[in-house]
Formats: sequence, C-alpha cells, structure tokens
Amino acid sequence: MFERLLPEGTVVAEGPIGEGGGHDALLPEERPLLAGAVAARRREFVAGRRYARQALAALGLTGVAIPSGPGREPRWPPGVTGSITHCRGYCAAAVGWRRTVGSLGIDLELEESLGPDVERLVCSPAERRHAARLRPSGVAWTTVVFSAKESLYKAWFPLTGRWLDFHQAEVEIDPGRGAFVVSLTAPARAALGAGGRVHGRFLLEGGYVATVAVISGSGA
Ligand SMILES: CC(C)(COP(=O)(O)OP(=O)(O)OC[C@H]1O[C@@H](n2cnc3c(N)ncnc32)[C@H](O)[C@@H]1OP(=O)(O)O)[C@@H](O)C(=O)NCCC(=O)NCCS
Repeated sequence: MFERLLPEGTVVAEGPIGEGGGHDALLPEERPLLAGAVAARRREFVAGRRYARQALAALGLTGVAIPSGPGREPRWPPGVTGSITHCRGYCAAAVGWRRTVGSLGIDLELEESLGPDVERLVCSPAERRHAARLRPSGVAWTTVVFSAKESLYKAWFPLTGRWLDFHQAEVEIDPGRGAFVVSLTAPARAALGAGGRVHGRFLLEGGYVATVAVISGSGA
C-alpha cells in the first residue's frame, strides 16, 4: 500500500501483523517498552519493529534496536528518518536517509466516518466545508484529513519535540492527484525553522486510508 505513496529514496516493509508477539523478536533495549502491555499491543509493537528492521536492512543497517523516546516516537539510527503505523491487522514501517527524504510520517486508518464530534475536534470549519465539496462523494474525506494530520505529526515531532494541535494545521486535498498540502499556523511554521514545507499523498484501498507526509527542508 505505502510503496506507491512514498518518495524516492524511501524503503517500506509492510504486511499483516500476525500472531508473533514474543519478546524474542525484540532487541534488549526494546523489551522494557512492552512491560505490562496487553497481547494486541505486543503483537502490533513486535510487527512494527520487525518491519522496521526489514526496511533498515535495505539501507544497509542490520540488527539495529529501535527504542521509543519520551513522546513515544521511534528512535531511528543517526541520519535516518522513519515512521511506523498499525491498524486493524496491518502494519507498515518506512525509512530513508534524512538528507535525501527530509522527515517522514506514515499513517493508516480504517476508511470510516469520524462522526460529527471527532470531526469537529480534528477539522476546522473550512476543512469540513472543503471535505464536503470533494468528489467522489461517499468517501470519508474527513478521515483522510485526520490521517494526513497523524502522518504530519509523526514527521513533525522528531524535528521539534513538540505537541501539535489539530487546529495548527490545515489540510487541502487534491483527489485527482491523490495528494494533499498542509498549511501550518505561523508559530508551528516557526518551530520548524527554515523550509518546512509539508506535502503528502494518500490512497484509499481495501477499506483503509493510507497517508504519507514529508517535511522537506529538514534534511541536515
Ligand atoms: C502518535 C499518534 C499520531 C499515533 O497515531 P495512531 O493512529 O494512534 O497509531 P499508529 O498505529 O498509526 O501509529 C503508532 C506509531 O506512531 C509512532 N509514534 C508515536 N508517537 C510518535 C511521535 N510523537 N512522533 C513520531 N512517531 C510517533 C510510533 O512508532 C507508534 O508505534 P509504536 O509505539 O508501536 O512504535 C496519535 O496517537 C496521536 O497522539 N495523535 C495526536 C497528535 C496529532 O496527531 N496532532 C495533529 C497534528 S495536526
């Protein structure tokens, strides 16, 4: 799914989450992160690390531990950007060199309506009007907006170490190109420093919404 969305220079490994949730699939630095976790969380975490290691191997990095930071962000090896997502039995991990890709975020959601309350939390009135005008009708466009913002956050956090509110970003979707652009509020743009353009792509497939966001100009 993500292969078709990701920029050149990125490697993705993706597939079913599967049943294996054992500690033996993790490296010692990663095991404490699952203390007290329920079985479903163990399985998704292990799948994320398994696919992430497959993807890193394609960059020539083998046997690398991927612990999580205080914001739950994956800690990639130096010079690497990457992102992990899991949703209803499916998992993907994408990585690339920061100097070529920038900062990467990926997200997967079920293609279902958010419902009016969540929609108001996630989308501005302008985004809701924009989503209502998009064609084909019947697509859960506000879920695409939501997923785009989740992808954005995963690319944003490793660069800034800061929380980003849903209303600090405005998503505009181009259905024909399977693309979106994110406009950040002025303080959020300032937090990114120079550059900080955010472009993304999306795909609706098999009942899922998949999105990728790339913050370019952040490669140093
Ligand atoms: C962190 C968040 C984006 C995760 O998304 P999700 O749809 O719940 O779950 P996913 O399965 O797609 O992604 C989970 C993975 O995201 C990654 N992740 C979690 N926190 C992260 C962070 N701060 N930065 C980067 N990646 C992060 C992790 O790899 C995690 O999997 P792991 O714990 O197994 O390693 C979401 O829970 C969240 O907090 N959202 C609110 C912030 C936000 O989106 N703001 C909108 C900005 S416009």
